[in-house]
Amino acid sequence: MTAAALETRNLTRRFGGLTAVDDVSMTLASGRLNAIIGPNGAGKTTFFNLVTGELRADAGSVTAHGVALTNLPPHRIVRAGVSRTLQIKSVFGGLTVADNVRAAVMAHEGVMSPFRSILSYGAISRRVADLIAEVGLERYADTKAQTLSYGDVALLELALALANEPKLLLLDEPVCGMGPQETERAVAKIKDVARRTDVVIIEHDMEVVFSIADHILVMAQGAILAEGTPAEISANAKVQETYLGAAEDED
Ligand SMILES: Nc1ncnc2c1ncn2[C@@H]1O[C@H](COP(=O)(O)OP(=O)(O)O)[C@@H](O)[C@H]1O
Ligand SMILES: [Mg+2]
Repeated sequence: MTAAALETRNLTRRFGGLTAVDDVSMTLASGRLNAIIGPNGAGKTTFFNLVTGELRADAGSVTAHGVALTNLPPHRIVRAGVSRTLQIKSVFGGLTVADNVRAAVMAHEGVMSPFRSILSYGAISRRVADLIAEVGLERYADTKAQTLSYGDVALLELALALANEPKLLLLDEPVCGMGPQETERAVAKIKDVARRTDVVIIEHDMEVVFSIADHILVMAQGAILAEGTPAEISANAKVQETYLGAAEDED
C-alpha cells in the first residue's frame, strides 16, 4: 500500500486557553482530491500551518508520504515535497509572470541541488514555460504581475507553488474573492494539478467543494466532525446541523 498523502496523529495546537486544533488524527489518502471544510474558526488554517511548519504543534505528529515532518522548519518541509500557495506577498508585482516563475524555479533548484551545477539556462526556460502553460498564463508571460487580474495572480501563485515540484500541495481557500468565471477557471486548473500531485484544499464555497473533492473532511471547533465522500457529507445530519445550516444562516 502506498503511504498516505498526509497523516496526523493526535495533532494539537493551543493559543492560550483556546485549543485551535484539538487531538486531530486523520489519514488523507494519496491519489484523490481531499478537501477540508468547516465554519470560520474551526482550525483549518491552523491545521495547515502545523503541517507546513509555520506553527509548532503542542502535541502530535505529521507525516506526508511516509516522511515524518512534525515541527521541522518550513524550508525542510518544502524540501520534503510539501508546498502551499502563499498569499499575494509571494508574487513580485514589478516582475513579469515569467520572471516570477523563473525566480521560483531557480530558488527551488538552488535548494535541491546546492552541490551540483544548476540547470542550464535552456532547461530553466523550458521549465518556466511549462509551468506557465500548466496554469494557463501563456498570454501574460511578459506582463508585469501587478497588472494581472486577481484570478490571474492566483494562477501565478499556483505556478510558484508548483515550481517546488511538490508531492503534496495545500491550498487554503484558493478561490476566495474570485468571481464565478475566475472560480471556474481556477477549479479546472486545480483539478488538472491534482492528477499529478496530491492536493488538500480548504474551501468555504460548498459548490466548489462538492464539484472538486473526492473526499471531504469536516472540522468544527478544532476537531474532526465527519469524513466521507461528497454524497456522504451532504447527507450527514450532524454536518447539516453544525455547518451547512450555520452557513446558510450567515447569508
Ligand atoms: N496566531 C493566533 N493566535 C491566537 N489565536 C489564533 C491564532 N490563529 C488562529 N487563532 C484562533 O484559532 C481558531 C482557529 O482559527 P483558524 O485556524 O484560522 O480557523 P479557520 O481557518 O478554520 O477559519 C480561531 O478561534 C482563531 O481565532
Ligand atoms: Mg482559514
